[in-house]
Amino acid sequence: MNDTVCFRNIGQLVQVDTANKTPRLKILDKHALIVKNGRVEKVLKDSGLKSSNYSRVIDLKGKTVIPGLVDCHTHLIYAGERKDEMERRLDATSYMDILKSGDGILSTVKATREADGKSLLKTAKTRMKRMMALGTTAFEIKSGYGLDIETEKKILSVGNRLKKVLPVPVTLTYLGAHAIPEGSTKSQYFDFVMKNLPLFRNLADGVDIFCEEGVFSVKDLKRLFLQAKLVGFTQLRAHVEELSHQGGCAEAAKLGAVSCDHLEYANPKDIRAMKHGDTVAVLMPGVTFFLGGEKIPLVHSMLDAGITLALATDCNPGSSPTYNMQTVLNLACHLYRITPEQALVAATYGSAKALESHEKYGSLQPGQRADFLTLKTNDYRDLFYYFGENFVEQTFIQGQAVRIPKAPAIE
Ligand code: NIG
Ligand code: FE
Repeated sequence: MNDTVCFRNIGQLVQVDTANKTPRLKILDKHALIVKNGRVEKVLKDSGLKSSNYSRVIDLKGKTVIPGLVDCHTHLIYAGERKDEMERRLDATSYMDILKSGDGILSTVKATREADGKSLLKTAKTRMKRMMALGTTAFEIKSGYGLDIETEKKILSVGNRLKKVLPVPVTLTYLGAHAIPEGSTKSQYFDFVMKNLPLFRNLADGVDIFCEEGVFSVKDLKRLFLQAKLVGFTQLRAHVEELSHQGGCAEAAKLGAVSCDHLEYANPKDIRAMKHGDTVAVLMPGVTFFLGGEKIPLVHSMLDAGITLALATDCNPGSSPTYNMQTVLNLACHLYRITPEQALVAATYGSAKALESHEKYGSLQPGQRADFLTLKTNDYRDLFYYFGENFVEQTFIQGQAVRIPKAPAIE
């Protein structure tokens, strides 16, 4: 018999209506979600349901249901922490000066090179389970803390293992062009990345580059993207216009990037390029918060231009040590002055589109994966109103309740 589960007595059922040019939330009161073999089959009015039609009926007792949150930009496979660096930054040393002094990303590279695959898998898995308990139901994970073939492969192999051992969709990205390792010049290291791109083709879905003054240039981005396309990578992404304006966003969009990420310094020309290229703008307010940045992306111009916005944690030990997409939603609303509806659409449909998966998940529409959250509130807007709370009561992946780990808070 088919496994058809009826989740009934949902107080507020939130889906994303993608039929319009601008996706919007669709909110239904007193409805039931019918899940067949892990996918949304349909949504019905709660009154008049026939329980004999279903293999199981689960009473959600008037709770709110929202689509699972999609974290489309993370660096969650790493070893070590950077609390000393945080203190240096709070004492007025900049993020880039710390990197130039050989710390920052490079200190995580050192720790990650020293860690074995088994311990990286253990910590990353614990992090992801924790993120799932906090509401994330699909992930993107980048490499970039190896900067040599062996460690980059180790990180991506851990990512591929995570794909197998956890029930969530995982997209993997090769970020060899993340920083310049000690002992190499920029051009030596970049040539090395270019030459060895084919070695990573079967380990990752796409490539990424950190385009910033003192790191990689717009010219490097162009070379990398053209080569990545030749090698057969389908998803091109870029860290652009994060700490200064370099022009990487417009170039990436022109070359067919699926997403441009960060964008604090993106200008109206960049926005036009993203619109033209149907490139998703991935915004990470956790970075603005944690690095104490005053520069806010031109979010309203992006919305007015009709660009798809996405939200992500950027989970990493240097610029955004958070596992919590609920925090990201809350920060997006109040740092960017966008509505709860705009933020939630971005963190579900928008982030899924950044992973080219908006047909498969993100909207809780019939045919999609039944990845959803029950909230400890009868109004989804509480996620945006109260801050510092965890409103997720239960995460469901393909209609199955995820076991909440009693794992250590930090891993
Ligand atoms: O997305 N900007 C570059 N990369 C990461 C930070 C990585 C780190 O500091 O470890 C980012 O902010
Ligand atoms: Fe990042």
